[in-house]
Order: sequence, then structure tokens, then C-alpha cells
Amino acid sequence: MKVILATGSKDFGKKTAELIIEQVKSNPNSVLGLATGSSPIETYKSIIEDFKENNTDYSNIKTVNLDEYCGIDTSNEQSYKYFMDDNLFNHINIKKDNTFIPNGKALDMSVECDRYEELIKSLGGVDLQLLGIGSNGHIGFNEPNTHFTKKTNCVDLEMETIEANSRFFSSIDEVPKQALSMGIGTIMSAKKILLIATGHSKSNMIYETIFGEVSPKSPCTILQFHPDVTIIADEDAMSKVLINNLDVVN
Ligand code: F6R
Repeated sequence: MKVILATGSKDFGKKTAELIIEQVKSNPNSVLGLATGSSPIETYKSIIEDFKENNTDYSNIKTVNLDEYCGIDTSNEQSYKYFMDDNLFNHINIKKDNTFIPNGKALDMSVECDRYEELIKSLGGVDLQLLGIGSNGHIGFNEPNTHFTKKTNCVDLEMETIEANSRFFSSIDEVPKQALSMGIGTIMSAKKILLIATGHSKSNMIYETIFGEVSPKSPCTILQFHPDVTIIADEDAMSKVLINNLDVVN
């Protein structure tokens, strides 16, 4: 695992964007796995800035998002489809037909999960997967559990996740209780993984990701078994690591 410390939100976004842009330049046909939430916002801003300055070409890039809420329309500002268009896709030269997100309004969620899993395979798999992390250790929406879920699945969100995400909604009652999410197996199949985190609330789980016992109780710990993981975190998210283990940080 490679661990990179960022200083402040601009630096955090820039360092993460640089690794994604490097992937796009080295393989302009890459499949990028993308995330939503607050963690990637600065990264997407930096990607857009770079696109305006350097014309980095996304015309053959394909993207697959980690997850989508169940039951909300893509025209709803809180849907992850809307988030991705608004925060990234509308501002770079990616073809919308090359951007994929699970359909949270599908009639049969189980059929939709299988379709999404097959879609990722048909694209040749994910070259670089961007991941945020929940303060309970979830990656995608794979919540703490007694087993690791392999494939794209329909997840009941934990109360902690519903509470954390309620900041984006006008009331907690509006937060969907379920989401479609790539499974742990889907995520682990990506060739490279980039895990990003900011803020004190993530410090325990960043520590667990690097040093914790691998267990479905903290889904992020499975990343210890992946051969190519880079963690980028700010000082707050890295605080527990920095106290005793300065040597792991680049
Ligand atoms: C979002 C996702 C989630 C978030 C995580 C952290 O697509 O899969 O795992 O990355 O909940 O969310 P933020 O970044 O809002 O703290």
C-alpha cells in the first residue's frame, strides 16, 4: 500500500486528480471507477481545471460508478447520476454514453445488479477505481457485515450512513434506505485502487485500512489484499496513522 499525505483540500484534490489524469494519459481507453460524496469533489474540480488548461482527452474514457440510491430519479439532485453530471461529466469531453451508473429505479434490483456486473466485465474491468470511505469503514456501500459481498448488490444502508448522508437532503426521512453498490469482489477486481479521505471522522478507518485485522466488520480492511492500492488523505484523516507510524507516509 502506498500512503500519500495531503496538506489542505486543494492539495488533496490536486494529488488525487494527478493520479487519475496520469491513468487517462497513459491509457486513453481506460475504464475509470468513480465515487460520489464529498470526498471526490476537490478531485473533480482539479480534473476540470486540468481539462480547461491542458485539454486532457476523455473522449474514449469509460466510467462506471460505484453505487446509486434506490428509488430516486436521475433528475433528482441527490441522485448519483445527477451528481456525476454536475460535478464532472458536464465539464469535460467525455461521451455521456460512455458513463455508467447502476439504475436505482430498475423494476427488478437483482436483474439490475447482474446487468451491471456483466457490463463492467464487458468493458474489460476497471483500470483505476476511486474510493471514498465511510466512517464505519464501508467502501462503495458495502456496510460492515459478517461476510464480504462479492458482486454488485442491493444494500440496506446502516443508520450511521443514513445520518452521515442526511447532510445532502432537506431531512433525514428523505435519505433512501437502500442503494445498489458494486460488491467487495467487484471493487477488488479493479487493477488499481485509489482510496481518498479527509477529516477526523475517517481517521479510525484509515488506520484500520492499513493496520487493522482484515474482517467484514470493517470492509475497508480487505484492501490489504489488493496488490495496487494508494491512499491519499489529509492530516486529519491521517492523524491516527501519523501518531505512531510516520514511516508509512510518503
Ligand atoms: C460514494 C460511496 C461512499 C462514499 C463514502 C464517503 O459513491 O461509495 O462509499 O465514498 O460514504 O462519503 P463522503 O465522501 O461523503 O464522506
